[in-house]
Amino acid sequence: MGKLYENKRKPARTGKKITVGRVSDVPPGRGATVKLSDGKEVALFNVNGNFHAIENFCPHKAYPLADSRLTGNLVECNLHGWRFDVRTGACFTKKGCSIESYEVVIEDEMVKILV
Ligand code: FES
Repeated sequence: MGKLYENKRKPARTGKKITVGRVSDVPPGRGATVKLSDGKEVALFNVNGNFHAIENFCPHKAYPLADSRLTGNLVECNLHGWRFDVRTGACFTKKGCSIESYEVVIEDEMVKILV
């Protein structure tokens, strides 16, 4: 079964490195919505000091994953509990419903995302 919803805010792959904020902006164990300049966005997570970025979008019914519960490397959608690995975007709940992940680099205490 394919995805039920399409993420219209998914960033296009451009190869660009975008500075999105400071390391201190997102405490460990938390997620944050990162708005990009063109109306696109990603969900950024801090897992014990390791930052990961995935689509801010649950393919079940489009809930933003940045606002969902993070447990270790797992984010569980607040609406109906679909689970994703924040490192890879892999969906553990339904086959074929994985989402994209984006590389994150930290430079001079700044968080940068490669889209
Ligand atoms: S919208 Fe995420 S589990 Fe339903």
